[in-house]
Amino acid sequence: MAVDLAATDVTTVAFKADPFPFYARLRHDSPVQPVRWMRGSTAWLVTRHGDVEAALRDPRIRKDPREALTSAQLADAPRVPKLFAPLQRNLLGLDGADHDRLRRLVRQAFTPRRIELMRQQVQELADGLLDEAARRGSVDLISDFAVPLPLTVIARVIGVPEELTPRFRAWTRALLSVTDRPLRSVAGVLRFMRYLRRLVESRSREPYDDLVSALAAARDGGDRLSTDEIVALLVLLLTAGHETTVNLVGAGALALMEHPDQAHRLREDDGLLRPGIEELLRFTSPVETATERWAAEDLLVADVTIPQGSLVLAVIASANRDEQVFVEPDLLDVGRNPNPHLAFGKGAHYCLGAPLARLEAEIAISTLLRRAPHLRRADPSAPVRWRGGAIVRTLESLPVLL
Ligand code: HEM
Repeated sequence: MAVDLAATDVTTVAFKADPFPFYARLRHDSPVQPVRWMRGSTAWLVTRHGDVEAALRDPRIRKDPREALTSAQLADAPRVPKLFAPLQRNLLGLDGADHDRLRRLVRQAFTPRRIELMRQQVQELADGLLDEAARRGSVDLISDFAVPLPLTVIARVIGVPEELTPRFRAWTRALLSVTDRPLRSVAGVLRFMRYLRRLVESRSREPYDDLVSALAAARDGGDRLSTDEIVALLVLLLTAGHETTVNLVGAGALALMEHPDQAHRLREDDGLLRPGIEELLRFTSPVETATERWAAEDLLVADVTIPQGSLVLAVIASANRDEQVFVEPDLLDVGRNPNPHLAFGKGAHYCLGAPLARLEAEIAISTLLRRAPHLRRADPSAPVRWRGGAIVRTLESLPVLL
């Protein structure tokens, strides 16, 4: 039966379960394709590796809709509640000089040294979570391992005191459900922003060795970050840094359970860990599509015109399986070399947290492989549960036996 490509809803649970054949078809037949998007809108999917990379670098495709849409188009666009508006002035919502300014200041604080210092703590956390899991025998790899690990790590990097970690988790949950349940999450988000604002003010007066203090102290000539800008950045680090890492650890572990030969290679040869994590990044694409971008003018991509004002989605999950770039792209090969995947994006918005994500994934996956050599799904006949939604591809749960 012919599939109506334009009517395909790419946010449903059924689609998320296996989007790869659809993307393969688009790359072959229709590499630039409009599809149904949220609230009845249309998104233009760009699916070939070269076009995805070019779109992520193209200055005519903007992050800030005010830079790309006409006033009439802006009036029609869905409005962000006033309450959340300050959160949008973050790295991922800005272009050009506004973005460069923030990125320069944040880079001073979010250094590879600060990340490398976390190595031992991440290892202790992973061991602690697996000790707890081993006591119970059967666990949900998502809620018992993949979620608490990055959340605790980012809380420590930011500088949230240990005793507040449980409350920090509840606030983060509120933050992550803003798109699905905006009304229910408002109170939690407000409390969280109030807490972060106080944290920034207190660290400006009395600095510690943490990221908030470093952000408050960052200077570029006479320029510095305002309290609102730091709060928006912290919220971005949490949202951008949390679910993505959960997805890599969760879907990465699932991929290794489904490819025991590759898990065996990783166990046998430590030297394969780094390329193995890159391959899990390519194979699982935790960020399925890059975040929303807008065409500031009519664009010709792969002989198709994307009209000015359109929402453009660069499909990372498709680029990472492009047969023109990767030999046998649907094969998991932990020794793959070269591996020019786009899992962390490209260009000005390239993932700021990539070193932290790699560190967490290396430790999480190697610790699982070492400590749970018989790791398997609790019920292999049950379908794997994915969550519907946009941008990321997330496992709902993954019950396993250790
Ligand atoms: C496996 C884990 C991760 C993946 C796959 C990932 C992927 C990405 C991608 C694809 C982008 C670019 C989005 C776009 O251009 O639309 C991005 C941006 C970003 N990521 Fe990550 N990310 C991960 C983990 C993290 C972590 C742990 C942090 C920080 C704690 C983080 C912080 C950021 C920030 C701040 C940006 C925006 C950078 C900018 O706009 O200049 N990410 N990430």
